[in-house]
Amino acid sequence: MIKKVSIVFHSVCGNNYLIANDFYNEFKNYDMDVNIYRIEDANYESLAEQFEVASQYKEEILKLQIASPEKLLDSDLIIMGSPTYYGNVSGAMKIFMDSFSTYWTEAKFWGKKLFSFSTSGNAEGGGDMCLNCINVFGLHMGMIPIPIPSNLIEGKNHTAYGLLHYVGDNSDKRPNEDTKTTIKAITKRLLTL
Ligand SMILES: Cc1cc2nc3c(=O)[nH]c(=O)nc-3n(C[C@H](O)[C@H](O)[C@H](O)COP(=O)(O)O)c2cc1C
Repeated sequence: MIKKVSIVFHSVCGNNYLIANDFYNEFKNYDMDVNIYRIEDANYESLAEQFEVASQYKEEILKLQIASPEKLLDSDLIIMGSPTYYGNVSGAMKIFMDSFSTYWTEAKFWGKKLFSFSTSGNAEGGGDMCLNCINVFGLHMGMIPIPIPSNLIEGKNHTAYGLLHYVGDNSDKRPNEDTKTTIKAITKRLLTL
């Protein structure tokens, strides 16, 4: 049974933050013990300035607690999201993953559930590979990646490896009502674990 949920995300333009925040609010609606953490990104301020939409969420994102493996140790379910960068996770997310090495050797995350999400520029951009990078990281930690295939979500056709949202070339096709509906359905499913 899921008692404690942690949501960890990296976001430069804000899209992964919006998804993380929707998951957070959805779990809160079910009175769950849920925390949201941002991945530390030394380049965040300068990167955010390069993207117009990023400035809208910058202050909100900076107010959130920074993620660490230690803070996730008492979670039953970890929801992890990264922008798709070159068909992979972002560099900041990879640095975070690499910081798990001592937890990995001691199998501290064994048995925890993991759900992944990502946003990518377009459908052919390798977003599903980014989801799988998160899932493979989870497997190395002994975590159990949870697939939510389309047939479990009515009227939806999406990748089974996690939640993927396409933001378009200008990175401003923000998570819309459709994505929010999917997040609600996924949350409901995850709560049955
Ligand atoms: C360095 C970099 C690499 C990217 N690589 C890809 C890619 O391989 N495939 C793709 O579809 N989009 C790619 N994108 C677009 C990002 O996936 C998109 O801007 C991101 O999902 C926005 O997430 P955010 O709003 O949370 O920062 C890339 C963007 C950047 C800045």
